[in-house]
Amino acid sequence: MTAGSPSETTERGALSAVRARRSWSKVTDAAPTRTELVSLVAAAGRVADHSALRPWRLIELRGADRERLGAAIATAQGDDRPSTKPLRAPLLIAVVASYRPSEKVPRWEQEAVASGVAHVLSLLLDEAGWGVIWRTGHYTRDRAVAEAHGLSADEELLGWLYVGGKPANARPGRRKPIDARALLTRMPVPLSPVDDPAGPDASNDTKPSEKEASKKSPGTTSAKTPKASGEKKTKNAKKARKKAKKAAKKAKKNAEASRAG
Ligand SMILES: Cc1cc2nc3c(=O)[nH]c(=O)nc-3n(C[C@H](O)[C@H](O)[C@H](O)COP(=O)(O)O)c2cc1C
Repeated sequence: MTAGSPSETTERGALSAVRARRSWSKVTDAAPTRTELVSLVAAAGRVADHSALRPWRLIELRGADRERLGAAIATAQGDDRPSTKPLRAPLLIAVVASYRPSEKVPRWEQEAVASGVAHVLSLLLDEAGWGVIWRTGHYTRDRAVAEAHGLSADEELLGWLYVGGKPANARPGRRKPIDARALLTRMPVPLSPVDDPAGPDASNDTKPSEKEASKKSPGTTSAKTPKASGEKKTKNAKKARKKAKKAAKKAKKNAEASRAG
């Protein structure tokens, strides 16, 4: 392998792990030890984290902890009997968003970090041979459930990773491949200065970085058209808009088909 060849590095590790990952709704009673888990959590904590706030924590639920969660779920739902859902796996990992005070990093960004940790940890557990599925429910943000986990006022649950052994002779995962081409699109073509209702002078407000982007972007009208007549610009812009509209329509259709499929 050549040094500085990122695609090859990724192919060996993350790419193959991601491609092989699937969720396991049924698992055996085997579970990773706390020591094993700690090492995977340390790795999962390497996710991108704006201002390194570490706005997350995880709670291990084993044994009778799961029954206490079952009782809290029953309270949340107004049921007479404890829920047996948490008993579906020997280990549940509650994913907690722990919001930190920050003027720079809003709550949604902090939730994104906590979510990233959960996704990466799922992947690492799967790669290590454990079966994982991320589950939630209407009760996820209920007060009784929060209290059972000892959450503070600035904390919210994002659900639980149910973890156990991968059963032998399990059926292969059934998820269909996504249509990446439909899901990876470009921005809509901007109005040309002539068509812009704010008038041609409005283009003077364009930031240099935006000008660069429109020059480099193959799907957009070039910013370098000083000699072009207004009429030609209008025609080109109309054409480009029509093309972009058509492409967007096609992308939407593909995405819908992919989701429905
Ligand atoms: C935040 C979150 C909550 C989820 N909640 C549930 C759930 O309550 N029940 C469920 O069956 N799947 C739930 N899922 C989906 C499963 O974790 C899983 O992704 C899905 O069954 C598809 O399987 P796959 O990951 O093998 O493609 C949730 C996923 C996420 C990210």
